[in-house]
Amino acid sequence: MEKDYSIAIGMMSGTSLDGIDACLVKIYNDMNFEILDSYSMDYPKDVREKLFLLANNNGNVKDVCLMDFIVGKLFAKCALGLIDKSGLKKDEIDFIASHGQTICHIPEEQNIGGVSSKSTLQIGNVSVISALTGITTVGDFRSKDIAVGGEGAPLVPFADEIIFKKDIPRAIQNIGGIGNVTVLSQDCDTFAFDTGPGNMLIDYFSKKLFDVSFDKDGELASQGKVDEQWLQYLLREPYYDKIPPKSTGRELFNNDYAEKIFLNAPKQKCDVIATVTMLTARTISEAYQKFVLPKTPIKEIVLGGGGAYNKTLIKYLNECFSQQISIKTHSDFGIDDKVKESLAFALLGFCTINKKFNNVPTCTGAKKRVIMGIVSYS
Ligand SMILES: Nc1ncnc2c1ncn2[C@@H]1O[C@H](COP(=O)(O)OP(=O)(O)O)[C@@H](O)[C@H]1O
Ligand SMILES: [Mg+2]
Repeated sequence: MEKDYSIAIGMMSGTSLDGIDACLVKIYNDMNFEILDSYSMDYPKDVREKLFLLANNNGNVKDVCLMDFIVGKLFAKCALGLIDKSGLKKDEIDFIASHGQTICHIPEEQNIGGVSSKSTLQIGNVSVISALTGITTVGDFRSKDIAVGGEGAPLVPFADEIIFKKDIPRAIQNIGGIGNVTVLSQDCDTFAFDTGPGNMLIDYFSKKLFDVSFDKDGELASQGKVDEQWLQYLLREPYYDKIPPKSTGRELFNNDYAEKIFLNAPKQKCDVIATVTMLTARTISEAYQKFVLPKTPIKEIVLGGGGAYNKTLIKYLNECFSQQISIKTHSDFGIDDKVKESLAFALLGFCTINKKFNNVPTCTGAKKRVIMGIVSYS
């Protein structure tokens, strides 16, 4: 008898460039799922530094070419680390689904020689992952959606619909390098967009001012106070007023951007961290006021991504929403905040393997539903 489930590994590394998150998941044919295990692997320091350069548009084609294979090897290592940790055997894994590492994402059409296109690039070569693990691997999810007119992002809402259903109006708010929200409600089609920086500016100034890679648990921000004047200046960024669907990344909120805004920053170092932490909270709450609440009265926000561990950020969010909307995390639903997105890619990959549509055009702006992802067979 054919089994009615697949055992999959989903892998993701986001714009924070902190490292690879992976999860092992049993996916039933009706798309119900059970998380079996998870594993994270930091990028080696030199790799992270190189990726930072590439993501900030500093590097040449040779660097991109090489890093595609280096990152592919690291994703393979992460998958093998997870398999080892789980005690399963390699041949028990049906497939790996890897988002890869975005190093460039251009959601606007650009024209060369009369031909125009949006574009995106995720490295971490799928053939390398498949060859080194011996497991069929799916990757390059975003290109197909762009090819049919979408932005190739966000892709996680597909999984949000499966995980959370629509019993009450909810906002699923991921806080990775960038903040992204998926709105799930019976009042409207599922929609989603990037709210603005998530941890990206917090990480940047934590490194610059305190030489740490992030503000663990929001400790530094908790010691500062929000500089309202600088905050108002930061909120003038035109991206926040753009009407969804919209997506952003390091192409906008990069090192140059951070250095530019730093010119007007407060003197106290902790105030800088507190203010950019509040910027994340305020851009989320203002985006909901402008673009979400007019469509549906959300009752609950579910936070995910590494930012869900930032206690000061959660405190600020509660202040911004005046305690009127309940703020939970994925952990409240039995899903580790840090592995949620890797779970999403396992579910997306399940559809690729089974030839089912997996983009959500109301979220990406694509003209039609397609099967995203390319497969390298074992
Ligand atoms: N304990 C913590 N306290 C505060 N922030 C954290 C904590 N753990 C992780 N983070 C933040 O989360 C980021 C990574 O989150 P992640 O969801 O992996 O983002 P991405 O998808 O962009 O890689 C880190 O760069 C850091 O800013
Ligand atoms: Mg990450």
